Amino acid sequence: MKIAIRREEVDDALVLREVLRRAFRRATEADLVDSLRQSCADRIALVATAANVVVGLALFTPVIVRGAKRTIRGMGLWPLAVHPEFQGEGIGSLLVETGISLLKRNGCPFLIVVFAPLFYQRFGFVEAAVHNVQSPWRNIPDNALSIMVFDQETMNGVSGLASFRPEFDSAV
Ligand SMILES: CC(C)(COP(=O)(O)OP(=O)(O)OC[C@H]1O[C@@H](n2cnc3c(N)ncnc32)[C@H](O)[C@@H]1OP(=O)(O)O)[C@@H](O)C(=O)NCCC(=O)NCCS
Repeated sequence: MKIAIRREEVDDALVLREVLRRAFRRATEADLVDSLRQSCADRIALVATAANVVVGLALFTPVIVRGAKRTIRGMGLWPLAVHPEFQGEGIGSLLVETGISLLKRNGCPFLIVVFAPLFYQRFGFVEAAVHNVQSPWRNIPDNALSIMVFDQETMNGVSGLASFRPEFDSAV
C-alpha cells in the first residue's frame, strides 16, 4: 500500500472528521480541527494517504512561550491521528517526522506535543519541563507536554506556560 504525506486540501475536511472521530472515539478533536481550519491561518495541516485515501492528520498550530523576559513563538502538534484500521503501520511516525523536517527547514525554534509522551519519546521529544515549559491548562499535567527544541540558542533563558491557540481551551 502506497503511503504518502501531503498538505491538507479543501476536499479533505469530511474524511478527516471521520478519521478524527474514529481515532479519538469522540467528536471533540474533529470539532477543534474544524474550528482551527476557519480561524488559524498559520496552521500547517499534514495529511497521510494510503492508496490515495486520507487516513491520518497532523495539525501544527502556533504556540507561544512567555518567559519573564522574552516571548518565543514555536509550534504545537495536536491533534495527531491515524484511522484505527491503519494504525501500527508507521503512518503516525511518518506524519511526525515529516512535520519535524518541515518546521526545522522553516526555522521554527521548538515543537510541543500533547499526550502520548511514550510515543513521542521515540522521536527524541523530552518532557517540556526539562526546558522549563509548563502546561497552560489546570487539568492537563506538565508531564503530558513534550518538547523538541530545534534552536537551543533562541530557547536559552526562556521559561513559562505554553500558550496554544484559544480554540484548544474548549477541547481540554
Ligand atoms: C498515536 C497514533 C497517531 C500513532 O499512529 P500509528 O500510525 O499507529 O503510529 P506508528 O505505526 O508510526 O507507530 C506505532 C507504535 O506507536 C505505539 N503507540 C501508539 N500510540 C501510543 C501511545 N499513546 N503511547 C505510546 N505508544 C504508542 C504503538 O504501540 C506502536 O508501537 P511499536 O512500534 O513498538 O509496535 C495513533 O495510535 C492514534 O491515532 N491514536 C489515537 C489518537 C492519539 O492518541 N493521538 C496522539 C495524541 S494527540
